Amino acid sequence: MHTTKERIEALKKSRNAVILAHYYVPDEVQELADYVGDSFYLAKVAQQTQADSIVFCGVHFMGESAKILNPEKRVFLPDPSADCPMAHMAAEDQIGKLRAECGDLAVVCYINSTARLKSLSDVCVTSSNAVKIVKSLPQKNILFIPDQNLGSFVAAAAPEKTFYYSGGYCPVHAFLLADDVAREKRAHASALVLTHPECTREVRALSDYVGSTAGIISYAEKSDAEEFIVCTEPGVLYELKKRCPKKKFYPVSIVCGDMKKITPERVAETLEKECGEVFLDGSLARKAYAPLARMLELG
Ligand code: 13P
Ligand code: SF4
Repeated sequence: MHTTKERIEALKKSRNAVILAHYYVPDEVQELADYVGDSFYLAKVAQQTQADSIVFCGVHFMGESAKILNPEKRVFLPDPSADCPMAHMAAEDQIGKLRAECGDLAVVCYINSTARLKSLSDVCVTSSNAVKIVKSLPQKNILFIPDQNLGSFVAAAAPEKTFYYSGGYCPVHAFLLADDVAREKRAHASALVLTHPECTREVRALSDYVGSTAGIISYAEKSDAEEFIVCTEPGVLYELKKRCPKKKFYPVSIVCGDMKKITPERVAETLEKECGEVFLDGSLARKAYAPLARMLELG
């Protein structure tokens, strides 16, 4: 009788597949993945892989983006129902209306979005490259979709631009309260606060560092501090503890239920039955490719 891990290893070889996992999926899935990282890193790995198939352990938009970047490869989601609610939080008519009103407008789309929203945008960004990309754009007006919190974080770093928002938010990060962070600060006076930019302005104001999941991990690793209050989905603690076994981490956020739908058993089943494959309309995929490719170029 083979273990799930052994089954996955054997199936991966026979299918010439690679397993990608985001830092928010359960620890045991991160442990069996070939590549674990933030959204930008995983998009780059997906674009460059030589494997025939990609099993993307994450939410729907991640598998969709991998397929857009690699139309000739097979991309599988261990649980296609794992979706990011924020990915849908922008209205198409707002995009059209603002394009008509402001001549000099760039539609900047967070990678946490549907293929349809990407196809209507000028450039995609992730939390690790959004400031750099927005600052490099020639347009003065920016419609930032769908995350208003990441958008306002970018706006603070790019005061030379005028920002418009679609009002979307991540239900995991947006409901992390400044009061809860303040309470943790009182309990751990020497701890530094590390925060994801999907958190609110009030939480970001209490933070020592704001950045993507990979940024948070790298900051904690390089810092001389020994204790950290972590304001993002607690899945990052697996990598944080691996890289910094002597440091202490106090998570504040609730979990992302969709990311936690991915299990080793589902990964094995996906490889075995080749189920959960991502299919996209060809013309939509071609339109969504340009903003994603531009992100990889500028980011
Ligand atoms: P990053 O890993 O790019 O920071 O993204 C966080 C996130 O919410 C992914 O869904
Ligand atoms: Fe979406 Fe938030 Fe979950 Fe990330 S943590 S996948 S942004 S709901």
